[in-house]
Amino acid sequence: MIVHPTGKFDNAPADNKSIEVVPLAAAMGAEIRRVRLASLSDEAFAEVRAALFRHKMIYFRDQDLTHGQQEAFAARFGPFAEDAYTKGVAGHPNVQPLIKEAGTRPGVIFGSGWHTDSPFLKEPPAISMLYGVDIPPWGGDTIWANAALAYATLSDTLRTMIAPLRVHMSMGLVLSSAQQHQKADDTPIGRLAATKGMERLPDEVARKVEGSYHPLVRTHPVTGEKSLYFDQTYSAGIEGLTAAEAEPLLKFLVGHITQPAFTCRLRWAPKTFALWDNRLCVHQAFNDHDPFRRELYRCTIAGEAPT
Ligand code: SIN
Repeated sequence: MIVHPTGKFDNAPADNKSIEVVPLAAAMGAEIRRVRLASLSDEAFAEVRAALFRHKMIYFRDQDLTHGQQEAFAARFGPFAEDAYTKGVAGHPNVQPLIKEAGTRPGVIFGSGWHTDSPFLKEPPAISMLYGVDIPPWGGDTIWANAALAYATLSDTLRTMIAPLRVHMSMGLVLSSAQQHQKADDTPIGRLAATKGMERLPDEVARKVEGSYHPLVRTHPVTGEKSLYFDQTYSAGIEGLTAAEAEPLLKFLVGHITQPAFTCRLRWAPKTFALWDNRLCVHQAFNDHDPFRRELYRCTIAGEAPT
């Protein structure tokens, strides 16, 4: 057992036959060893999928993957999701580059700020994955927080109070931050910055700013686990509450979910492949690796309307 100090989560590996699982922290995360993702048996894949749902974030070192192999591995989890920000690489529309060029100093870095991926969509992605190609010698880590553990550690009283609430998830804050701090270019945030001064937002952007209302507490459709579904980047308010009423609750929940004791942090290396359960964890990237280049490739798997 690797029981979290709160006693509310056990990050110990299951009894696996085809893979070796080495937990990363008590709160979440695990390295999976003894597998080659490009040629994974069905038995090993079933254990990898179960490990993802158990540990919330899993990663693999030293994986040689072409874009086609990454896409093929990702497709084993289900259909690809709509990607809200990025376009795929040539020939592989579902493999999206996340590249920060050396020496560039963006005002807003893609993925910074605690978030779950694209919750403003009606059906946000279920699983997100990243493959590291060019990794800075220091910095550029990704950090995750376990929102199911955060839910489990709330008092019964607060859990009862928040059970009926729905959160308004919107791209609005990211859009205004991009318009204020970033110059227009052909990067995901630069494309948002390019809307500055437009009389009317493009329909695609307007739809994401309008966003969606999702339950603040969601139930994982595969495992039945309950989790807070909420973040710092896209949560714009709570249905039926005034801004003044919602703000202290949202502030408390952000601090609660992202407390260091509920997190794990990944030091990337070239050929590291990581995937996470977007339904019940939040994550963030850091703008801390100037002047070095960072190049990763992302795939996202379709999810369902949260319930
Ligand atoms: C993301 O938010 O999906 C990107 C995370 C990262 O670049 O580390």
